[in-house]
Amino acid sequence: VLITPDKTGAPLHVQLYRQLRAHILSGALAPGALIPSARTMAADLGVSRNTVEAAIGQLWAEGFVVRRVGVGTIVTLGADSVPFANPAISAPPSVGVVRSSARATGANAVMAASPPRLSARGLAIAAGGRAELDADARSGPCAVDVHSFPQRIWQRLIARAARQNGADLLLPGAPQGDLALRTAISDHARLTRGLQCSAQQVLVLHSAQQALDLISRLLLGPGDVALMEEPGYPSATAVLAGAGVIVRSIAVDDEGACTEQLREHPAARLAYLTPSHQFPLGVTLSLARRLTAINWARQTGAWILEDDYDSEFRYDDRPVAALQGLDGRDHVLYLGTFNKVLFPGIRLAYLVLPPSLVDAFTSALRMTDGPPAPLLQAALAMFIAEGHFAAHLRRSRRIYGARRDLLVEQLKAVSGDRIVAGASSTGLHMVAHFPDDADDVRIAAASTGHGMSVSPLSAYYAGESKARGLLLGFGAAGDDGIRRGAAAIAAELNSRRSAS
Ligand SMILES: Cc1ncc(COP(=O)(O)O)c(C=O)c1O
Repeated sequence: VLITPDKTGAPLHVQLYRQLRAHILSGALAPGALIPSARTMAADLGVSRNTVEAAIGQLWAEGFVVRRVGVGTIVTLGADSVPFANPAISAPPSVGVVRSSARATGANAVMAASPPRLSARGLAIAAGGRAELDADARSGPCAVDVHSFPQRIWQRLIARAARQNGADLLLPGAPQGDLALRTAISDHARLTRGLQCSAQQVLVLHSAQQALDLISRLLLGPGDVALMEEPGYPSATAVLAGAGVIVRSIAVDDEGACTEQLREHPAARLAYLTPSHQFPLGVTLSLARRLTAINWARQTGAWILEDDYDSEFRYDDRPVAALQGLDGRDHVLYLGTFNKVLFPGIRLAYLVLPPSLVDAFTSALRMTDGPPAPLLQAALAMFIAEGHFAAHLRRSRRIYGARRDLLVEQLKAVSGDRIVAGASSTGLHMVAHFPDDADDVRIAAASTGHGMSVSPLSAYYAGESKARGLLLGFGAAGDDGIRRGAAAIAAELNSRRSAS
């Protein structure tokens, strides 16, 4: 399939991305098809390699393609696998595509005849969601051990909350969230995370994803630039892409996100950061870089979204205070989620907003969904205020800390120096680093199914240059799963060495 840039005036990488996506959705590029290398495509089209990489990166972020080491970029998602998708969905009619196959021409005729049923943004968000559904959050690298949650206490609190609040719970609840819960959240965030905030700044939501959706609608528009960490959290990228936002990357090293690179993007509207526990590498953002990020936001008027998804699970040293606490409340939106720290089915998360944004976000929430169920909010407020939350965190830190220790010990025992354990002072997963020529996709596939979540690090990069390694989720793995998982990885590495 030969693709030529069109004359719509959209940036070249957007045109190219739309055309490739249209080919995938029409079936001209079927699942399994290999997309030419960035170098080849750039030469064929007379565009820069960066343009091609930006287009492919967007397709990757939306789950249309995967990148396989030594093979290239492969189409994964076709018309059949996009929910609600109709093969008739296509790029805008003005896109000039030269096709070489009869099948593509046939599909094109269908495209012209029937109007698209999903918008381009709709397709992007559905593709991102499909990738997450396929990955299955219950067994992903950040899965918690739901069995360690004190269910009895929770059941009692639900019953008490229902009795005490009576008919009030039958009403929709306060638009910003239950005041008792917002107070408990802001007290906890101030005391344990160093935030500067009051209950008036807290907005109770269902999930981090919902927060990202609201942020994309309220603070960003189609064509605006948002900055993501590379490697980073694909589900955040997918929501931004689904809002028509252009996503650009900043690198991550041992000190966390390279926030000095933010300065290269003075027009960007938002930077998404995971300062306490970088996802997926697990490093902590240094103080110097935190200050650089805040200065950048102050100078440019951009927002910083601080995703503090699992920093409560800190094992070795004292917790690092949140970036929000350094900011003076003006530029940072702080995101916390109980879906990580308690259990995924609770469906409760929160944003701590700069005061200037509270009213707009509360109003917009009313238009897009509304606050979560009052009963759950009331029960969670009691759970925190009565000390069960702090006790659960202490117990979880002991359990997960011991699993982390076992994993580090097992990796060392079975692999010697061939695997380098990444930062693991926080969170529910750890990265095991390999030499850059290792095929982490193959090793992950071969070591899955032994009781520990294993996924390839390279899958969390949007660009072509990626480190190799594995994300090892120890949170939901029992001791046996950790031992068997580590042994399977070592066996796979050994077989690779003896084969070469
Ligand atoms: C970086 C990051 N943020 C947020 C979340 C989860 O957020 P939620 O389930 O509330 O959407 C995850 C889950 O894995 C994550 O890895």
